[in-house]
Amino acid sequence: MSFRIQPTAPARPNRCQLFGPGSRPAIFEKMASSDADVINLDLEDSVAPTDKDSARANIIKAISDVDWGDKTLSVRINGLDTPYWYRDVVDLLEQAGERLDQIMIPKVGCAADVYTVDALVTAIETAKGRTKKISFEVIIESAAGIAHVEEIAAASPRLQAMSLGAADFAASMGMQTTGIGGTQENYYMLRDGAKHWSDPWHWAQTAIVAACRTHGVLPVDGPFGDFSDDEGYRAQARRSATLGMVGKWAIHPKQIAVANEVFTPSDEAVAEAREILAAMETAKANGEGATVYKGRLVDIASIKQAEVIVRQSEMIASR
Ligand code: COA
Ligand code: MG
Repeated sequence: MSFRIQPTAPARPNRCQLFGPGSRPAIFEKMASSDADVINLDLEDSVAPTDKDSARANIIKAISDVDWGDKTLSVRINGLDTPYWYRDVVDLLEQAGERLDQIMIPKVGCAADVYTVDALVTAIETAKGRTKKISFEVIIESAAGIAHVEEIAAASPRLQAMSLGAADFAASMGMQTTGIGGTQENYYMLRDGAKHWSDPWHWAQTAIVAACRTHGVLPVDGPFGDFSDDEGYRAQARRSATLGMVGKWAIHPKQIAVANEVFTPSDEAVAEAREILAAMETAKANGEGATVYKGRLVDIASIKQAEVIVRQSEMIASR
């Protein structure tokens, strides 16, 4: 372990982030009564330019009017390359009620992007006497974003979560695909004439997880566009969970249950983790740093691995 201790990420469930366009207020109540841990009301790319003003007004009203329960309530503002974002921040911070938890900044390319929004938010919070400090989440969805992912993860104490946005990321990288996440037909290895599909999102995901874990931020997998493909979504979510991500977006309500299932440690996984911790307690009492559990080596590192699963499960259960 480095002399610098790895900070812990915020202890709140973030298994599923449900998105809905700010221009479609008819679904806000349905979003609020869903099983998603996080709600993302969108002002960005699911809202047409002509609807930006009305979407902003819809969201500001709904933040106070709708009962969002104990969900994390987040609004995705427009990118810093647009003429809309400053109005999003000013109106939200000046007019929205204290129920607003978080602002999502899309297409972040460097730490200064986050710093800029932080400066504006801080000034308005102080001027308006807002008592709750708004937190941030960002989307890594460009070549610059992934190139500067670590400085972005360290950019603000407000930052709680970071998502991979597969579609914009693919476009920015010049990837030959129009799919939003998932298996890509042309990304395969050949062996004895048989194709084996690999995962083109893997390296960006691991870069995000490493940056997030270094700076105490929650790493999240973004959208999976084909909402008719439950098994494709499940496979992508399982890969993300295996790599250390804590949740995934839903762009349709039918994706929520799958995300919650995949990102909640199973009873078997929790039971096994507890058994490993117990085996290590016994080993420690016998003066040993390693022991055998179900025919395999477990040692002091296994304690930390098991604790990740137990902590995750206890945090979700306590909600
Ligand atoms: N949140 C909550 N409820 C939603 C919903 C959402 N995001 N999207 C659809 N629903 C509701 C519908 O109102 C409908 O409810 P009903 O049974 O009471 O009539 C039900 O779920 C089934 O919806 P369906 O007809 O299958 O979908 P749709 O054609 O109404 O909408 C989308 C499909 C993809 C346009 C819509 O889900 C959507 O806008 N998703 C979010 C897009 C977004 O925010 N993108 C930005 C991030 S990438
Ligand atoms: Mg995007």
